[in-house]
Amino acid sequence: MEKNIKSNVSWVGFLDWELKNFHGSDYSTNNGSSQNAYLIKEEKTVLIDTVWTPNRCWFIENLKNSIDLNKIDYIVINHSERDHSGALPCLMKHIPKNTPIYCSATCKNYIEGQYGKKDWTFETVKTGDELDIGHNKKLVFIDMKMLHWPDSMAIYLTGDNILFSNDAFGQHLALHELFADKADERVLEDEALKYFVNILNPYSAILLNKIPEIEKLNIDIIAPSHGAIWRKNPGQIIEKYRNWASKCSTNEKLQITIVYDTMWEGTKNIAHKIANNIYLENPNINVKVFNISQHCKSDIATQIFKSYAIAVGAPTIYNSIPSA
Ligand SMILES: [Fe+2]
Ligand SMILES: [Fe+2]
Repeated sequence: MEKNIKSNVSWVGFLDWELKNFHGSDYSTNNGSSQNAYLIKEEKTVLIDTVWTPNRCWFIENLKNSIDLNKIDYIVINHSERDHSGALPCLMKHIPKNTPIYCSATCKNYIEGQYGKKDWTFETVKTGDELDIGHNKKLVFIDMKMLHWPDSMAIYLTGDNILFSNDAFGQHLALHELFADKADERVLEDEALKYFVNILNPYSAILLNKIPEIEKLNIDIIAPSHGAIWRKNPGQIIEKYRNWASKCSTNEKLQITIVYDTMWEGTKNIAHKIANNIYLENPNINVKVFNISQHCKSDIATQIFKSYAIAVGAPTIYNSIPSA
C-alpha cells in the first residue's frame, strides 16, 4: 500500500508486524518493525531503498500498484545491508537494466559483493553531489559513513525539505499510521533509545560530528528506514541523539543494573542481595536485575546504557568463569 508522506513523496515499504528478532537473534523486536522505502514522483520518478529479501515479492507487487515499474528513472540505495537492498536483485529483473542506481562507492562494492557483479548501471555519489529531479527539486547526497555501516548515506529532498536518513533516527516499530506523532509516545521513546544503543552507540563520536551538518538543513520531515517518520518537530530526535551520543543521562532516576549468570543459584543470590542492599541504602535508586541467559542482550544493553553503575556476576568453576 502506498501512503503519502508529503507532496509527491510516498512510503512504499513493508510493515513487519511479525518480526520478532533482527540481526539474526541479536536484537528483539518486541513491537515489530518496518523496512521503509520511498517513492518520489516529480518530473523524474525516484525509488529510495527497497526492503528485506523475504519481502521482495510483496514489495514489487505493491510497487506495481503505485507505478509502472518501467517509469522508475532513478534508484537510490542509501545502504546495502539486506534489510534495504534485499529486493534490489528481483526489482532489477523487472525494470530496464540500465536504470541508474545512485549510491556511495562503498555501497556499490558491497552490493556487488552480496549479489555478484551484474550488468547494472551505478552512479557513485558523495556528500554535496546533487541530482535534479525536476519541478525545481533536487536530491542532495550526504555521506553517513559508519552511521552505521561504511557505505551508509542519507539524502535530502529540496523543496519538500525531507531528510531520508536511512538507519539513523530509526526504531524497530511497526506503525500503520507511519508518523511519530501518531505513535504511543512511551513505546516510541523506548524503541528509539533501544535502536540507538544497539545500532549507533558505538559510533557516537562520528554522530556528534555529523549532527551540526544535518542541522544546517531546513528539515520538515526526517524519514528513516525503520519505524516512525518524524514530521512534528523533527529536531526532537536529533536532540535526543545528541544527548544519547554525549552520554547524557536518559533517566530522571538514578539506575543501577545488575547482570548475572548462575549455575546453582549462588551468583543469583549474590545479585539479589546486592539489589536489596542498594534499596536499603537508597530506595530512590532504580535497580534492574537480569539473568543474562533469560533476557535479550539488546534489552540488557539498553538498561545498561541508562545506568550510572552496573554489577556483573558469573559463577566460577576450576577457578575461572565457565565458557560455553
Ligand atoms: Fe543497517
Ligand atoms: Fe536497517
